[in-house]
Amino acid sequence: MTINNLAKKLKINFNDQITCKDFNAIASYCLKKTEKQLKSNWDYNLTRREVKKINKFWKQYLLNKPLAYIRGSTFFNNCEIKVNKNVLIPRNETELMVQRAIGFAKSQDLKKTLKFGDICSGSGAVGVSFLTEVDNCEVFATDICRKALKVAKINYNKFPKTSYQILGGNFLQPLINRDLKLNILAINPPYIKFGDKNIGESTYQFEPHKALFAKSNGLYFYYEFFENWEKVIDLENDFFVILEFGFDQKNAIEKLAMLHLRNYKFSFEKDYSDNWRFLVIQ
Ligand SMILES: C[S@@+](CC[C@H](N)C(=O)[O-])C[C@H]1O[C@@H](n2cnc3c(N)ncnc32)[C@H](O)[C@@H]1O
Repeated sequence: MTINNLAKKLKINFNDQITCKDFNAIASYCLKKTEKQLKSNWDYNLTRREVKKINKFWKQYLLNKPLAYIRGSTFFNNCEIKVNKNVLIPRNETELMVQRAIGFAKSQDLKKTLKFGDICSGSGAVGVSFLTEVDNCEVFATDICRKALKVAKINYNKFPKTSYQILGGNFLQPLINRDLKLNILAINPPYIKFGDKNIGESTYQFEPHKALFAKSNGLYFYYEFFENWEKVIDLENDFFVILEFGFDQKNAIEKLAMLHLRNYKFSFEKDYSDNWRFLVIQ
């Protein structure tokens, strides 16, 4: 059977570009080919085993399982990042957070080793894509979830061991415990309030709730942040702190920032969809 015939058998709507693209992505994953290679080769004759494999993954896709979990990887800032059910699938808007951090790093004295913190690291996408672009740096990735840190370890494995540390523990505590003072801090904490109706069905069903939801109406980690961030930053030198928050949380974060950041310059930035998304302290 060719891929084309299998697609017809699975009743794939050839007029629906997204479905065709996703089917192509699943088939290419099963056949260990690139999506581009396969796109022009739907006449390829599948073995029985290959048909069985594509069928299995297509069924999961129809049950709403995200493509990234089916394939076991996704792309973030041009880096391939391994993912599984224990980590959040890194989002597009978070790429911007890393790009801003990279911009700051490149504006600094290149002879100095910069210390970068990826707090609530999950898969490690933030720190890994930073490390890919910035040579002279040491990354500290922290997360409370051991299973998430296992995934981060796989993603960091391509770098020299001296360029990163993966630390387990609660929020900023692993840095505080080691008296680490960083130059750059990037944080994407869980920030959705329990019971929020805006969350997609597939996200709710498949992504780890520990990565999504936070107490205190989703603001728990921001309270913790404002209490403790100065303890983990090298305040004697230029620094850059960037914190992601939910599309409807700017007012709440701004109130906290006005209260806690009287002696610092801070600003808010939007994401690609024009939503307020980041607090930057410099
Ligand atoms: C929104 S996800 C961000 C993952 C990754 N940085 C990204 O952008 O794709 C939040 C992460 O925070 C972790 N987390 C939840 N509670 C935590 C805590 N108390 N301390 C540290 N990490 C925590 C979760 O395990 C999850 O990996």
